[in-house]
Amino acid sequence: MLGRDLAAAFERGGWEVVGLDIAELDLTDPSAVARMAAGEFGEASWCVNCAAYTAVDHAESDPDAALRINALAPSYIAQACIAGGMKLLHVSTDFVFDGISDEPYSEEAPTHPLGVYGQTKMQGEEAVLQAGGRAIVVRTAWLYGPHGKCFPKSILNGWLGGRRLRVVADQFGNPTYTAELARVLVQLVELDPPGAIYHASGSETMSWHAFAQTALTTYAELHGTELVPEIEPIRTEDWPTPARRPRYSALSFAKCASLGIAPMRPTRECLREFWSRLPEPA
Ligand SMILES: NC(=O)c1ccc[n+]([C@@H]2O[C@H](COP(=O)([O-])OP(=O)(O)OC[C@H]3O[C@@H](n4cnc5c(N)ncnc54)[C@H](OP(=O)(O)O)[C@@H]3O)[C@@H](O)[C@H]2O)c1
Repeated sequence: MLGRDLAAAFERGGWEVVGLDIAELDLTDPSAVARMAAGEFGEASWCVNCAAYTAVDHAESDPDAALRINALAPSYIAQACIAGGMKLLHVSTDFVFDGISDEPYSEEAPTHPLGVYGQTKMQGEEAVLQAGGRAIVVRTAWLYGPHGKCFPKSILNGWLGGRRLRVVADQFGNPTYTAELARVLVQLVELDPPGAIYHASGSETMSWHAFAQTALTTYAELHGTELVPEIEPIRTEDWPTPARRPRYSALSFAKCASLGIAPMRPTRECLREFWSRLPEPA
């Protein structure tokens, strides 16, 4: 989902991009990663890792696969980048935090993941930063975009499918549009700041319930639909999931802002653009 918008953003910025998916390069195979870094797909100055095991709930019953993709693969990539003379941009997540905070998390805040996904992503960050190469780790959150399964699409499908809509209203985070994150990531690469962790997520903190309601409202505005359903707000306990999730995982944008990077556009504006990029409803 992120990889495709990011490749397009780099190309718009004049970069030559080689986009690789698992069919061309299985990142859990260290020798394949080493061949990539040695130039099998061409020489490159940067390697950007958007791949991950992102199924947060499945990871609880499949921890080995999550570990291989989220922790071991980044360590292979980091080592190979050092050997191949490439800088590395690695993408991580707000789920490295436990959510017991009442202010946006800074890059220095202590990590304490609540589940396997967050735990393995944290191990991936550590592997990248401890490898000793030139690497930046960017934590983002609550991603949505046209090129993958995402929360606004699920909510829309529920509405169009006539299902009762109930959404958790006591977990808060920053919805992040892939195209806006891509813009920030391109700027970061071009600024080439010191190797460290950076936070980049949407500019507004809201609950999943508010995000769902805003998503449907913007969809209806775009398509001239008058009636938008009232989504029922529920508590986390009313929607049990295998993985625990942080109650609050807003990420501070201050460090990126200090580099001169503009915050992401308001959620409604991003959602309108997101919906406009999807095929028209039948
Ligand atoms: N989605 C979110 O809400 C969210 C929130 C915070 C952070 N992030 C982070 O943002 C980044 C991008 O997320 P996303 O939502 O764009 O993820 P995504 O749509 O799930 O894409 C991840 C990609 O990684 C590929 N992949 C999995 N295993 C691989 C392997 N062994 N070798 C090569 N490729 C492999 C997947 O291929 P298959 O589809 O074939 O498995 C998929 O194309 C990830 O680092 C994620 O942890 C995401």
